[in-house]
Amino acid sequence: MVVLITGATGLIGTKICTELVKDGVEVRYFSRNPSSSVIPGAKGFQWNPNQFSFDKKAMDGVTHVINLAGATIAKRWSASYKKQILLSRLNSLKTLEMAIEESKSSSIRVLSASAIGVYKSDLNFTHDEHSTSYGEGFLTEVVQQWEAQAQRISDKGHALSLVRIGIVLDSDQGALPKLALPVRLGLGAPLGSGRQWQSWIHSEDLSCLFVYLLKNNLGPVVNAVAPHPVLQKELLREVANILKRPFFLPPIPDSVLKLFLGEMAAVVLESQKVRSELLVNSDFEFRFKQVRGALTQLLKR
Ligand SMILES: NC(=O)c1ccc[n+]([C@@H]2O[C@H](COP(=O)([O-])OP(=O)(O)OC[C@H]3O[C@@H](n4cnc5c(N)ncnc54)[C@H](OP(=O)(O)O)[C@@H]3O)[C@@H](O)[C@H]2O)c1
Repeated sequence: MVVLITGATGLIGTKICTELVKDGVEVRYFSRNPSSSVIPGAKGFQWNPNQFSFDKKAMDGVTHVINLAGATIAKRWSASYKKQILLSRLNSLKTLEMAIEESKSSSIRVLSASAIGVYKSDLNFTHDEHSTSYGEGFLTEVVQQWEAQAQRISDKGHALSLVRIGIVLDSDQGALPKLALPVRLGLGAPLGSGRQWQSWIHSEDLSCLFVYLLKNNLGPVVNAVAPHPVLQKELLREVANILKRPFFLPPIPDSVLKLFLGEMAAVVLESQKVRSELLVNSDFEFRFKQVRGALTQLLKR
C-alpha cells in the first residue's frame, strides 16, 4: 500500500500519518510548504492547489489517497474568507484529480473528507448515511460542492468514499480546547439553548477509522461519528465535571454568539444528531464510545 495524503499537516492528517507509518505503510503527502512541515516517517511533496500544480514524482505507484486539504472554518467568515473556505477545497480536489490521472492507475482507493454540517439542523431528527435531509446555510453549500467535486474522481472509476466527519475532539487542536477555555476560567455556560446535538468523534478513533476505511470499503458515504452523540450543554457539563470547575451560569443567547462570531456562530448553534449505521454494523472498534471517557482521556493529561 502506498498512501498519498493532502492536508496531512493538519489535526487529522498528522494523526493518520502516525498510524500508517506505525503500520509500516509508505506515506507521502502534498503540502503547500513541505519543507517547513515535516511529518516523521512520511515524505512530503510540494503542491500549489491554487495554481493546480503538483510534484509529479509523488504519484508514482500510489494505491490509496486521502484528501483532507482545506482552509479552516474556525476563522471569522468574512465574504472573502468564505470564498477561500470553498475554493481551497474545490481547487485541492481539482489538483488531486489531475494528480490521480498522472499516476496512470485505473483503480485508486480514495477517501475524501466531508462534514456532517451537510445535514439539516434539527433538534430531534437522526441522520444516518441514507439521510438526504440537507441544510440550507453556508456550510451545507460548501460540503455539497466539495462532495460533488470529489465525485468526479469516482466518475473516472476510482473507489471513492466520502467521510462525513463530526466534531473532532482532541486535546491540543480543534473545538475542544476552545470550548474548555471558558470552563477552565470558571465561566462555563451552555451556548445558545444548549439543546443542540453535537455528534463528536475522538481524534484517535478518527485516525484509526481512516486507516480502517483504506482497507474496508463500507460504501460511498460514511458518517465518522462516535455511537453516542450528546447535547451541547451535557458536553460542556462533562468538561466542567472533569476539570472540577463550576457550571451554573445562564446560557449565552444565540444573539450574543452571533454578535461575536458572526455567521460562524452556526458552527456551535446548529444541531446535527448523526449516527453511523455502517460503522455500527461493521467490525470497526471505537475506543471512545461515550463522551465522558473521551473527555476524561483528553482533558486529564
Ligand atoms: N477537525 C474537525 O472537527 C473537522 C470536522 C469535520 C470536517 N473536517 C474537515 O476535515 C479536513 C481536515 O481537518 P483538520 O481539522 O485536520 O484541518 P486542519 O488542521 O485545518 O488542516 C487542514 C490542512 O489543509 C491544508 N490547507 C489549509 N489551508 C489551505 C488552503 N487555503 N488551500 C489548500 N490547503 C490548505 C493545510 O495543509 P498544508 O499547509 O500542508 O498545505 C492544513 O494542514 C478539513 O478539510 C476539515 O474541513 C474537520
